[in-house]
Amino acid sequence: MKKKFLILMSVVVVGVGVFVITTEAQRFNYNQGYAPEQPIKYSHKLHAGDYQIPCLYCHFAAEKGRHAGIPPVELCMNCHKRVAPDKPEILKIKDALNSGKTIEWIKVHHFPDFAYFNHSQHVSVGKVACQECHGPVETMVNVRQEKMLNMGWCLDCHRLKGIAAPTDHKNAGASDCAKCHY
Ligand code: HEC
Ligand code: HEC
Ligand code: HEC
Ligand code: HEC
Ligand code: HEC
Repeated sequence: MKKKFLILMSVVVVGVGVFVITTEAQRFNYNQGYAPEQPIKYSHKLHAGDYQIPCLYCHFAAEKGRHAGIPPVELCMNCHKRVAPDKPEILKIKDALNSGKTIEWIKVHHFPDFAYFNHSQHVSVGKVACQECHGPVETMVNVRQEKMLNMGWCLDCHRLKGIAAPTDHKNAGASDCAKCHY
């Protein structure tokens, strides 16, 4: 009787532990590692790696505003009018341009509405390299979400760079939190 009870109890304890860990992981592992297939076989490794096209040539909005943005197809055609113009993947770009459609790129990073992140504050003001937050994109065929993008990640870097951060939730002034929540 006693032995059965102990076995039952250990099953319950392990079960509860696994449940807690998976729910926490689901909450906090915000798509880290996500690297979806895209509608056009566009490769960052080829463009930003092998051909060393600067990130800001395509993601020019990152210097000026909140979003880095995805480049319009017109920009691709600056090169592809002449480079590999008849390859099937490039014809998809031409078709989009001719029919006035946009390409339905699949979003890699999803960020919650209740927090505020601004690229220009980091790229222009903070001089933080894209790779510090996105990893070695120039080696990726499909872009992969490299970091967790959770609050602790933001605050860890701010601490490292000596940016005033809220110490803890009890004694921090509301204005500290309002830098990223409003
Ligand atoms: C020739 C243009 C071009 C260059 C150069 C380029 N990108 Fe991109 N980038 C794109 C396109 C198009 C997409 C959307 C398709 C995709 O996700 O692969 C994209 C997507 C991304 C995404 C994912 C956005 C999302 O959906 O969340 C990140 C992050 C990114 N690029 C970072 C970089 C970094 C960092 C560099 C430099 C190392 C760079 N890119 C260079 C065109 C470019
Ligand atoms: C301090 C960290 C940080 C730096 C530096 C950074 N990013 Fe981001 N990036 C993020 C976060 C967080 C998100 C998700 C938030 C969002 O979607 O606005 C994101 C989203 C993106 C996206 C998709 C959404 C959008 O804003 O268009 C692209 C593309 C991107 N980054 C490209 C870049 C490029 C290119 C650089 C360098 C010029 C860069 N990022 C620098 C943290 C960073
Ligand atoms: C600065 C010049 C430049 C720009 C801008 C550029 N590319 Fe390219 N792209 C290249 C070069 C060079 C190659 C390699 C061509 C080859 O191997 O024949 C290439 C190859 C490709 C290929 C592979 C073609 C194949 O099937 O072999 C695709 C797909 C592609 N690019 C998509 C894009 C998209 C989408 C954009 C816009 C977001 C873009 N490119 C912007 C220069 C560019
Ligand atoms: C440097 C930016 C930054 C600051 C400062 C900041 N947060 Fe956040 N916070 C975030 C981001 C980004 C998220 C979304 C990602 C996540 O859920 O971890 C978030 C998520 C949260 C969440 C929901 C998820 C969770 O972790 O429970 C709460 C609650 C929260 N923040 C409270 C606060 C409070 C209270 C303060 C002030 C003491 C604060 N935050 C300061 C960036 C920040
Ligand atoms: C890799 C380092 C790094 C990461 C990660 C990072 N930041 Fe920053 N952040 C900086 C730097 C550097 C500055 C510029 C400080 C200055 O010089 O004004 C900055 C500035 C800011 C500012 C402007 C206000 C201030 O305190 O100066 C906000 C808001 C902010 N970051 C939010 C975020 C959020 C939200 C995240 C996470 C999604 C995040 N940051 C992740 C380095 C980082």
